[in-house]
Amino acid sequence: MGCFSSKSKMTGPQNSNSPQTACEDVDPLENIEDEEEPENLTEDQKKLLRKSWLILQNDIAKVGTVTFMRLFDSHPDVQNTFLPFRGLSNKDMESSAILRAHALRVMATVEKCITRLDRIDKTNVILKELGHRHIDYQVKPKYISLMGPQFMMAIKPHLESQWSEEMEEAWTHLFRIISYHMKKGLRPSKAEQI
Ligand code: HEM
Repeated sequence: MGCFSSKSKMTGPQNSNSPQTACEDVDPLENIEDEEEPENLTEDQKKLLRKSWLILQNDIAKVGTVTFMRLFDSHPDVQNTFLPFRGLSNKDMESSAILRAHALRVMATVEKCITRLDRIDKTNVILKELGHRHIDYQVKPKYISLMGPQFMMAIKPHLESQWSEEMEEAWTHLFRIISYHMKKGLRPSKAEQI
């Protein structure tokens, strides 16, 4: 059984004759149906991503760990998603093998995206399946949306001499694509739930 979209839940007076199947736990801000699918990356953006990835490759563990440390720092509730991290200090977490392992998994996914920039349809399916598996890890869609800005701040110091507005836009765009398709798997659309 599907839920009403948050849009239909919020508009107009309630009609007592219509069947109500709204899911009360749906946060309107997290509803994928309200989000437009990002456009494809341009050829110039793909070039910038490939070029910067060559540099980032040398520091993937560091970039991934810093991304999550920043995320936990700015949104402490996200830290509780990883059960072994509940109540841990920043210092203990920074040296955690679990944090490092997940950071490497995230970076491996980014690498997959970079190597498949010309086969975006295939990548989108992989991202959607990955997002779906994150239901089991109790990850909320909004946590996925928070990753892009933290990742950006984590990579900037590694790309200092190369950094440009265009590069920032290319990475922002790629993370919009990653986040959109992962959230699609995490919260299937109304049609897919039926
Ligand atoms: C760009 C965003 C993310 C990517 C690409 C990503 C990627 C992955 C991958 C590849 C795995 C390995 C297991 C599998 O394939 O199912 C995994 C597991 C997991 N992810 Fe993520 N993830 C992301 C965001 C998050 C966020 C924001 C959280 C929590 C706040 C999270 C929590 C977990 C947990 C708890 C696991 C299982 C334990 C582990 O493998 O470390 N993920 N993730």
